Amino acid sequence: MTDHGGGSGRVIGVLEAILLVGGKGTRLRPLTISAPKPMLPVAGRPVTAHQIARAAEGGVSRVILGTSYRADVFSDYFGNGAEFGVDLRCVVEEVPLGTGGAIRNVADSLESGPDDPVLVFNGDVLTGLDIPALVDAWRDADAAVALYLTRVSDPRAFGLVPTDDNGRVTAFLEKPQTPEEIVTDQINAGCYVFRRSLIDKIPAGRPVSVERETFPGLLAVGEKVIGVVDPGYWLDLGTPLAFVQGSRDLVSGTAPSPLVPEPGACMIMFDARVDPSAAVTGGSVVGVGCAVAAGARVDGSVLFDGAEVGEGALIVDSVIGRNARIGSDVRLDGVVVGDGAQIATGNELAHGARVFPDAELAPTSLRFSSDQT
Ligand code: GDD
Ligand code: MG
Repeated sequence: MTDHGGGSGRVIGVLEAILLVGGKGTRLRPLTISAPKPMLPVAGRPVTAHQIARAAEGGVSRVILGTSYRADVFSDYFGNGAEFGVDLRCVVEEVPLGTGGAIRNVADSLESGPDDPVLVFNGDVLTGLDIPALVDAWRDADAAVALYLTRVSDPRAFGLVPTDDNGRVTAFLEKPQTPEEIVTDQINAGCYVFRRSLIDKIPAGRPVSVERETFPGLLAVGEKVIGVVDPGYWLDLGTPLAFVQGSRDLVSGTAPSPLVPEPGACMIMFDARVDPSAAVTGGSVVGVGCAVAAGARVDGSVLFDGAEVGEGALIVDSVIGRNARIGSDVRLDGVVVGDGAQIATGNELAHGARVFPDAELAPTSLRFSSDQT
């Protein structure tokens, strides 16, 4: 029996976790052109690194990464998992197999016995989930699967998971299409505890959606599937603005991570130069080797490694890609700038604008006026 501290329960022997990190992250383009979504840095480290650190803190001792898109990037970064105190391995899909297919594809690498719990995490969410409590709930209910649920005000982009009075899942409604399907505000928060033998029963060698096929199939044959609503922090990093928010929340301590032991107003990485007259606020991250010039303001934003921000520029709620150059007096608000792009002096971009990698915006002296309509 292992006492893991920090949680409410007990973990027996080796606890394994599968991380699903094979998605393409299309909605985060252009950031995901050069890096897979789970490897994008939030609070200076890849999303996956924060997840592994939290899993290790929650009692997980073996981690299997289910990779597909850009698999090499994961194995290069994480190696055998020693930095995180876990035994880690990467399994690669030749062709993407979907969420359920990816879980099945790593079955040969699991060491758990047929009745043991195996955790599964989506690779693109930040959470404050009490991991041991979810495992305990699964064990106490003698369930086939326990799902981590969270409540959101607009569930349409997620998987809806209604439960009965005893916490048993009654249906799965993945990405509901009609108002009638919106029967609950509880959604699949992207972490499951599976009884290991059920993973072996997922069909091998073809794409399977765990949400659309495996879970409804378990309900159809009367397996006990429970939902556990955890009220803690939860954020899906699916869009650029959510990604910046996740980084902000980690830096400020709103989102918990063992990799951010001392939350603060900003995070300035190694070798970054910030002029004393510049202001870096709101949970911003200034990456390795970045430069922020005199009078510039960086608020609630993420500067990837090597980015440069010119004099007097104002960067709000934005992501600046690796080695991108932002000229003097540029104003960016809610903008994603791809790696290596150059935005010359005077440009103003806002709300959802995306600048593709290596693009160049010419200088301008034109100004938007606030009283124009
Ligand atoms: N290895 C592998 N192979 N991983 C995959 C594949 C694949 O073919 N397809 C998706 N993934 C990974 C993604 O990288 C991501 O970490 C996770 O599986 C979920 O896939 P997404 O594509 O991000 O799904 P989603 O965000 O639309 O919906 C899922 O997450 C929601 C919560 O954020 C579903 O599980 C919803 O039910 C859930 O509410
Ligand atoms: Mg997702």
